[in-house]
Amino acid sequence: MQVEKIESLKSRDFISLADLSKDEFGQLLDSSIQLKRNWKEGIRPDALKHKTLAMIFEKQSLRTRSTFDIAMYQLGGHSILLSQNYIGWGVRETIKDVAHNLERWVDGVMARTYGHSTLLELAKHSSVPIINGLSDLLHPCQLMADYMALKEHFGSLEGLTLTFVGDGNNVCNSHINAAMLSGVHLRIACPEGFDPNPEIMKAARDRGASIEIMRDPREACEGTDAIYTDVWISMGQEEDTERRKQAFSGYTISSYWFTLMSARGVFMHDLPAHYGEECTEEAVYHERSIVFEQAENRLHAQKGVLFHCL
Ligand code: CP
Ligand code: NVA
Repeated sequence: MQVEKIESLKSRDFISLADLSKDEFGQLLDSSIQLKRNWKEGIRPDALKHKTLAMIFEKQSLRTRSTFDIAMYQLGGHSILLSQNYIGWGVRETIKDVAHNLERWVDGVMARTYGHSTLLELAKHSSVPIINGLSDLLHPCQLMADYMALKEHFGSLEGLTLTFVGDGNNVCNSHINAAMLSGVHLRIACPEGFDPNPEIMKAARDRGASIEIMRDPREACEGTDAIYTDVWISMGQEEDTERRKQAFSGYTISSYWFTLMSARGVFMHDLPAHYGEECTEEAVYHERSIVFEQAENRLHAQKGVLFHCL
């Protein structure tokens, strides 16, 4: 089936899910699911023929780097990879100058940064769309893939409860936005001092999100439809390792936690996993884990973003 362009997304940045309307989020999700089906049926689109995406990485990546590259290829375009080592932005030249060069050559820029403000600075000076491939604040592309996996698995997002167990980090902040746009009920289980961003929480609640912060992770998993976890020590937080390991003791998701969920409940993780910390290897490879569906969907979710925004 042909995927129609969402006109309101044309030439838009993709920095935060909170920039989307509920309709745009739903349409983007459905069109990414359709792009995935089409690819599997042998349909080879050329929507981005002769278009180029620049990919900038300040941090390591397996999934984001591979899937953006492959997504451009599968849409008929291509990508170029720039790392901080190559371009030295903010050191060799300013982010503003990098933006004004890149916009003369490429049709979009995907960046993975430490500071979220770096992405906003890039977007401020760029006439081509900027896509957030993860910042310290947000990870929107991850959540598009995750919600594709939920919709494919459950058939609908209607009435779902999802429990995020762990650090109120970039992935957790994007969960708040996705829950707000989808109507999924979100429980967040984190120790005091590791809450998600309060401004993102408030803005989501103001837009009708149903979110609870809970301090007992096992109670938060009772009857839930999905347990989702992420690393306790995100990239850039390595110096805080010991304090974090202490704070999150008792938060390791093992096979036992599957008994707490609803009968249809699944386990989710954005990867990479730090086994023995936020979860066990058994949890990731459990028959009720949809972790590798999430990883697979990074490719198709990003194809959706590139298809509509570039
Ligand atoms: N989940 C995710 O973003 O993976 P990478 O860090 O490998 O890109
Ligand atoms: N919260 C993690 C996500 C990795 C994909 C990090 O920022 O390192």
